[in-house]
Amino acid sequence: MIRAAITAVQGYVPDDVLTNFDLEKMVDTNDEWIRTRTGIEERHILKGEGKGASDIAIPAVEGLLKKRGIKASEIDLLICATVTGDYVFPATANIICDKIGAVNAWSYDISAACSGFLYALETGRRFIESGQYKKVVIIGVDKMSSIIDYTDRATCIIFGDGGGAILLEPTTEDVGIIDSILKSDGSGFEYLHQKAGGSVLPPSRETVDQRLHYVYQEGTTVFKFAVTNMAEVSYQLMERNHLTGDDIAWLVPHQANKRIIDATANRMGLPAERVMLNIQRYGNTTAGTLPLCLSDYESKLKKGDNLILAAFGGGFTWGAIYLKWAYDSPA
Ligand code: UT7
Repeated sequence: MIRAAITAVQGYVPDDVLTNFDLEKMVDTNDEWIRTRTGIEERHILKGEGKGASDIAIPAVEGLLKKRGIKASEIDLLICATVTGDYVFPATANIICDKIGAVNAWSYDISAACSGFLYALETGRRFIESGQYKKVVIIGVDKMSSIIDYTDRATCIIFGDGGGAILLEPTTEDVGIIDSILKSDGSGFEYLHQKAGGSVLPPSRETVDQRLHYVYQEGTTVFKFAVTNMAEVSYQLMERNHLTGDDIAWLVPHQANKRIIDATANRMGLPAERVMLNIQRYGNTTAGTLPLCLSDYESKLKKGDNLILAAFGGGFTWGAIYLKWAYDSPA
């Protein structure tokens, strides 16, 4: 049986840092409120004209290829999860392939907000399992600063820019992606969306004046759905694979709010030492959070470790993936 295994991972965040103290000067907030309500201390922001999500993804993919020692021309398929693509069309994945020289790959984007990386990983997994694809690159990336209203204190404090990439390859060993539960519920639309810029409300002077091109979020409602659903799917995935908290080496949770992460870990019976956490440094990078976690914690991962990746986000979309880590990390 062919399974899809993650064989390399690389994260990337831009250099510029926006701290809670910087935000204190921009909106009516304070470091203590942000830290205690979200766990965030700073986030990275991509600055410079003409730069988009691909400028975060490209260094991540290039680092990935270097680590694995393969050429871009060896990639068969590249999937990019993002809601802040460089353009409305074409797909950012196409732009990335062109710039890195992935001349033999076909490529497309997936839009599932904060669950984007999970959706793309599940999709890529199935291409590998088909036996027809040998090297699939999955990217989760967002330049959230391009759609954040920095006068809205309830929303601007949680988001940041960043992302990462993983390589999927086939394996017949007892490692790789084993099971998944993925969900969506479009009735959650009203609580988290971007009002203008799509075909319903194309950009106009009015939409810009009314600030409709920014993220609209009813934080408290999203929080309640996230806490319940992210924990529930993670628990279900454990149950149906006969796993207890003791069997899980790492929870890899979407980094939207530390309180959501703690609730999920609690439901799974996991101590904090086995929960990946980097929200304090990056905030919520939407599709970028999971590959950034894997990248930051790569050196601690061992072959055969049971990992559960879990996310919740706009759509609503949510889910969890269970995998066995496929390699001992390089020194
Ligand atoms: O990633 C995809 C999905 N997104 C999420 O998972 C985000 C989920 N939501 C959240 O993480 C939280 O709802 C937020 C961090 C966005 C907000 O935290 P909260 O604890 O839900 O705050 P709240 O909106 O209920 O506001 C509580 C109070 C309010 O004041 P009053 O009405 O109690 O006087 C707000 O006006 O905190 C106030 N407030 C702030 N105060 C200082 C809201 N934002 C701020 C702020 N600084 N930045």
